[in-house]
Amino acid sequence: MGAASNPARRARRVKSAEPGTAEFWAELARPLLRKKATPCYLFSSAPIAQSLAQLDAAFTGLPITHWLSVKTQPLPALLRWWNSLGRPIEVVSELELQLTLQMGCPPERILINGPAKHRWLIRHPLPRLNVNFDSVAEATALGTLARRMHWRCGVRLNTRCEFDTDAPEFPTQFGMTESELGEALAILVEKRVTVEIAHFHLRSNVASHVDYLAAVNEGLGILTRLGCQPAVLDIGGGFPSPDVTIRKGARLDASFSLNSLNLALRQIRNRFPFLKEIWMENGRWLSGRSGALLIRVLDAKQRGVNRNLICDGGRTMNSLMSVWENHRILTLPERSATPCMTTVNGPTCMAFDKLARRPLPSDLRAGDHLLWLDAGAYHLPWETRFSHGLCAVYWHDGCTLQQVRAPETFTDWFRQWRGS
Ligand SMILES: Cc1ncc(COP(=O)(O)O)c(C=O)c1O
Repeated sequence: MGAASNPARRARRVKSAEPGTAEFWAELARPLLRKKATPCYLFSSAPIAQSLAQLDAAFTGLPITHWLSVKTQPLPALLRWWNSLGRPIEVVSELELQLTLQMGCPPERILINGPAKHRWLIRHPLPRLNVNFDSVAEATALGTLARRMHWRCGVRLNTRCEFDTDAPEFPTQFGMTESELGEALAILVEKRVTVEIAHFHLRSNVASHVDYLAAVNEGLGILTRLGCQPAVLDIGGGFPSPDVTIRKGARLDASFSLNSLNLALRQIRNRFPFLKEIWMENGRWLSGRSGALLIRVLDAKQRGVNRNLICDGGRTMNSLMSVWENHRILTLPERSATPCMTTVNGPTCMAFDKLARRPLPSDLRAGDHLLWLDAGAYHLPWETRFSHGLCAVYWHDGCTLQQVRAPETFTDWFRQWRGS
């Protein structure tokens, strides 16, 4: 499976409406309907450019750097576009590091996070990387390389503000507690490595700026007591997606405000004057709105008061996020008959395969298309090839649309099996 053989020839200029609007996605999707290109993901740089402008406006005057979270959307075309802006990239695995280097990003613009990276990072003696150590074991195993390669180093903090969202009484596995930090800092001092970055990532969908404020106060309090005054505060990601609702119904960003966070960060700078830079690694907030899943209705069945629309894409293959999130759905063509209760199913032979259950226009029928919006975060990394293989991917660079991944064929799939 590969990118289209001659992408330049196949690129199609698309007139674009306001990024992220229904018209914007409908215009991108329209040429694909005739080609029977479904199921496929459509991703575009335009909503990301718009989100970046919004962030720049919200935090004007603060020394903020926005890192692209690769794990959120590991799409080579996106990395290439982002890198062309001279912006930096955050990775959490060896594969992501290799992708980022392949896309031309220099090591000094790469930040390495994530647990247990001593397993693989030792294989990459690149100069001037940015690395946040996640444990004492990492600091021990990588400290000497860090010193030799002039890495800009940091420590990930495990504060009481970070917990397992499924079971809040449990802390997460990430970062270091106060006693672990004491140990790691001593090891790094011995190896003559300066700790310049204080890092945490609370979780996805942080409900309020208050959570960030509490984590910074606790984390920087600990580091200060241990005699460490980092110049960089890296608050991770976690801003909620503006248009997504969780299944329980609440808007994820109900009480989250960029303006309040801006004010909180200004307070933090006054309280900890040694801070010179603030880093953010927002995944879903930045890229969630930059994608849509385009699927076609293949069949319709009435089951009592519920209608099942069986489509060529769905949850099992394309949107694990639909287990806990509700996203906006557009219909192509636009249908407007009185809504009836509808379950949107994917094509796999699994009852689990339901993208959405909600009232949708009763005149929707086989042959119509649906666009599941806000698919630009955590869809691609969690897609599966369940029974059908991976779907096509289209990339819009702000003016042209091109296929960057062909749908997986049997030959593509079979090639992975040695000795078959
Ligand atoms: C270290 C780190 N940074 C950034 C992110 C991006 O998070 P989000 O998509 O919630 O903004 C994550 C996600 O888990 C993460 O673990």
